Amino acid sequence: MSDTLVHISLREGTENEARKPETARPLDPLSKEILRLKKELNAVLLAHNYQIPEIQDLADYVGDSLGLARIAAETDADVIVFCGVHFMAETAKILNPDKLVLLPDRDAGCSLEESCPAEQLKAFQDANPGIYTIAYINCSADVKALSDVICTSGNAMKIVEAAPKDRELLFVPDENLGSWVMEQTDRPMKLWKGNCYAHVEFTADSILAIREKYPEAPLVAHPECTKAVRLLADEICSTEKMVGFCRDNPATAFIIATEAGMLHRLKRECPDKEFIAAPTDNCACNECKFMKMNTLEKLHACMLHKTPEVMMPKATLERARLPIERMLEMSK
Ligand code: 13P
Ligand code: SF4
Repeated sequence: MSDTLVHISLREGTENEARKPETARPLDPLSKEILRLKKELNAVLLAHNYQIPEIQDLADYVGDSLGLARIAAETDADVIVFCGVHFMAETAKILNPDKLVLLPDRDAGCSLEESCPAEQLKAFQDANPGIYTIAYINCSADVKALSDVICTSGNAMKIVEAAPKDRELLFVPDENLGSWVMEQTDRPMKLWKGNCYAHVEFTADSILAIREKYPEAPLVAHPECTKAVRLLADEICSTEKMVGFCRDNPATAFIIATEAGMLHRLKRECPDKEFIAAPTDNCACNECKFMKMNTLEKLHACMLHKTPEVMMPKATLERARLPIERMLEMSK
């Protein structure tokens, strides 16, 4: 096996292609062992844009929730090793019920998922018969199973625009993404009161302070940010769309208001540009404690022992698959 890792170009929806060898870095022994196990298991290694750099650099595909769901739907690997959070690995399992899906840390959750227990959603739907439920992919499989369609931050506008005109709409569980989509589409929706504990840490004050330091740098924000922050942004988009925006924009420096792992992906894709992590009021950076639970050690252990495995009841798998497939079909 080669001793260097050739970085790969990871453009949205395309296969990886070899990247300039000058960006290659030497491989440490654990990374080499992970690549060996990947071959042995005939596994595909998927990583979200917020994963630690060492994991991003080993992955076959790095992307946002939509890109990762698409790749998971298409893969012919025997095993999916998902370096992200639980709901993402669950989505991969729902799309591949017969495959082994591994997640390095089974406790890698999400505050949005926690904010919307399936029983509470069911009670709300029972009290509001006929309501059309659009669920952000950051939710449990049980919530997906109760929903009409799923969306991600990359396709939320398209999905909401296509929702039936004669039905009342409910958007769960992110009130910030939901209110941003409402503003863009003019479709009124009832919003679940959930949020991303990390993205709501950015405030208008923390953003104004960094803008003063870098007045020429466009501000790129994730739609999970609050309205006060979104109002200051030059671009609001999913993590994958951030790559395209920064690549195509003539500016040479950008302020990025999302989880700090995104900066590694952006630096890989645009090595000549500067990326500044938007600060919060409490610290200079912003990290999702769930995304950062996955480490190289845990990744290696999960591949070696084939655990933790993502599993769920057959009925949930079957019911949750329909709204995900609807989303993939609608966002082609
Ligand atoms: P993206 O789909 O834009 O990568 O967002 C996922 C997420 O969890 C944001 O916090
Ligand atoms: Fe969930 Fe927020 Fe972490 Fe994304 S950044 S996985 S929304 S807690």
